[in-house]
Amino acid sequence: MVSQIYPADLGLAYIDVSSYPQEMQRSYKIFASRCSRCHTLARPINSDFSADKWQKYVYRMMNKSGSGLTKEISDEIIRFLIYDHQIRKK
Ligand code: HEC
Repeated sequence: MVSQIYPADLGLAYIDVSSYPQEMQRSYKIFASRCSRCHTLARPINSDFSADKWQKYVYRMMNKSGSGLTKEISDEIIRFLIYDHQIRKK
């Protein structure tokens, strides 16, 4: 499914998680595989949202038809995105 191209799609398409805690490195892999199915992974990576906005957006993605996202997986991805948001400089 290819729709509109966002400016964020054209940015860096990975996060260097080598200094992140083990648990977050695991969650990154889930995020990278689950959130690149309908658009680039760069889109979420280059979107700078606060914690409550990430929660809102990930649930919005979860509710799209065929997202393949469960509440449990979404919550893990949300925890990763909030952690990443706090420490990564964009
Ligand atoms: C089922 C397909 C699908 C999946 C899976 C998906 N997305 Fe999306 N995403 C979209 C579509 C379609 C849009 C375009 C805007 C909209 O419809 O909300 C979008 C837009 C976005 C945007 C841009 C929002 C904005 O307005 O700037 C972000 C950020 C995003 N997705 C993050 C994610 C994350 C994080 C995940 C993994 C949890 C994910 N997406 C998984 C379909 C998907």
